[in-house]
Amino acid sequence: MSSFWFLILFLVTGLSKMVIEGLGVNWGTQATHLLPPKIVSKLLQDNGFKKVKLFDADQETLSSLAGTGIEVMVAIPNNMLAQMTDYDAAKKWVNRNVTRYNFNGGVTIKYVAVGNEPFLESYNGSFLNSTFPALQNIQNALNEAGVGDTVKATVPLNADVYNSPVSNPVPSAGRFRDSINDLMTQIVQFLNQNNAPFTVNIYPFLSLYGSTGFPFDYAFFDGGAQPLVDGNIRYTNVFDANFDTLVSALNAAGVGNLTVIVGEVGWPTDGDINAKSANAEKFYNGLVKKLASKAGTPLRPGADIEVYLFGLVDEDAKSIAPGNFERHWGIFRYDGQPKFQMDLSGLGQVNALVPARDVKYQARQWCVFNANAGGNMDPNKLGDNINYACTFSDCTALGYGSTCNGLDQNGNASYAFNMYYQVQNQKRGSCIFEGFARLTTEDPTQNNCNFTIQIAGSGPRSPAVRVVVGLVVVAVVVLLI
Ligand SMILES: *[C@@H]1O[C@H](CO)[C@@H](O)[C@H](O)[C@H]1NC(C)=O
Ligand SMILES: *[C@@H]1O[C@H](CO)[C@@H](O)[C@H](O)[C@H]1NC(C)=O
Ligand SMILES: *[C@@H]1O[C@H](CO)[C@@H](O)[C@H](O)[C@H]1NC(C)=O
Ligand SMILES: *[C@@H]1O[C@H](CO)[C@@H](O)[C@H](O)[C@H]1NC(C)=O
Ligand SMILES: *[C@@H]1O[C@H](CO)[C@@H](O)[C@H](O)[C@H]1NC(C)=O
Ligand SMILES: *[C@@H]1O[C@H](CO)[C@@H](O)[C@H](O)[C@H]1NC(C)=O
Repeated sequence: MSSFWFLILFLVTGLSKMVIEGLGVNWGTQATHLLPPKIVSKLLQDNGFKKVKLFDADQETLSSLAGTGIEVMVAIPNNMLAQMTDYDAAKKWVNRNVTRYNFNGGVTIKYVAVGNEPFLESYNGSFLNSTFPALQNIQNALNEAGVGDTVKATVPLNADVYNSPVSNPVPSAGRFRDSINDLMTQIVQFLNQNNAPFTVNIYPFLSLYGSTGFPFDYAFFDGGAQPLVDGNIRYTNVFDANFDTLVSALNAAGVGNLTVIVGEVGWPTDGDINAKSANAEKFYNGLVKKLASKAGTPLRPGADIEVYLFGLVDEDAKSIAPGNFERHWGIFRYDGQPKFQMDLSGLGQVNALVPARDVKYQARQWCVFNANAGGNMDPNKLGDNINYACTFSDCTALGYGSTCNGLDQNGNASYAFNMYYQVQNQKRGSCIFEGFARLTTEDPTQNNCNFTIQIAGSGPRSPAVRVVVGLVVVAVVVLLI
């Protein structure tokens, strides 16, 4: 084949679906309305993802991945860690959630995540006792089941398990947090013995969000930031500096060659002044280009780093304790529509992400503030109704620096009422708000502030189910009379 045709073939294949090796994505499910797993699985395939990280071992999710060849990290949630300190329970977990899928045409499970950031300081040490025994039991159970060579247990940890001293804040001085240093040392040595990777979540966005005076450019990969000088090394982005702080901590613990996976990295698109689609696009394109170049980091030059983006789709039921941006981490919206262009190949093409297919929506109607009812009604009551709507739905786009922050008071009310109405599956009676609300078929979307319609058939209770339940109730009542 002439090189010309080879090039054409290469470009065509590359344009349709190509993701750089080692790049995966997190599939979270903390949403009021979930896309059906089959649609999400197709979305992953259409975009060329070969790796996915889950937060549980949900059967329908895993079934949707069967036969796709996508490599999967399944997970044991933190609230099951204590249970897993019992070896028999760990064996059952492995049998039910790993080996069961291990057949030709089954699911390619590569990792079991034991807990999710269990040592976060905000957990007050709740999982300090259970995590390591659970890790040991799961890996031992995998070994006993005969799959230990291909399936590895690991613990996704937040980057707050290590740091550099305030007196010498450079990556080469990285160590595990004092209070958990012994435990971390045991864990990394166990991982090392089993040829299992260390998994860390690294968030440049949170560095920018959390520290005043953090240089904006240092969160990205364009080299524009004032470098952090560490001996002979000049760090121009916080991702490398953070990663190498871990490498130094691993060195100090005697396992300097332990493989490191980045379990989560990403940039949110709403809910904060820096959480913008344009910033996310810039961040991801810099990250993917960096990974494609296989440059590694200064302490691990040439390393082929396995990285899982966070995340796939927005999750409107996540806790906003860390910040309003928590519900906006998706590279796709809640309904699988791409938010921006992204070059997953690292080849410098401007590539549109492929949207989810066959998504079913609820009816095209919105719940908005009823201007005619406004005059003779108590404004405190309006506030109470808005609060109620926002307590049971997602109003994070209304806050400072967010896409719907420019609305006037009536607009705020409309936005809140609509979010509630959609979460309630447009249920009858969910657009009243003591007379402050009305229905409309005219899209109230303005500027960048989208008034969304939720996806159908997957909410807490879909209208169809409600009708059936309603009919049964009526029938029973009639029979009783
Ligand atoms: C398998 O995983 C599911 C989903 O995470 C969990 O609910 C179930 O308890 C697990 N099975 C066993 C036997 O532990
Ligand atoms: C941790 O402790 C703080 C302060 O005592 C408390 O507010 C918080 O609810 C605790 N968190 C957990 C997960 O126990
Ligand atoms: C962990 O174990 C220690 C010693 O056995 C015990 O004092 C402590 O209460 C345990 N902590 C938790 C959160 O279970
Ligand atoms: C890491 O691996 C390299 C090459 O395989 C070896 O030379 C070095 O001693 C190893 N370092 C540690 C800390 O095991
Ligand atoms: C709309 O709501 C946001 C978020 O609560 C608030 O910051 C803003 O001041 C409100 N606007 C008006 C005009 O009340
Ligand atoms: C709003 O909707 C438009 C059109 O569907 C879309 O292009 C845009 O990304 C959406 N913006 C947000 C913040 O969801």
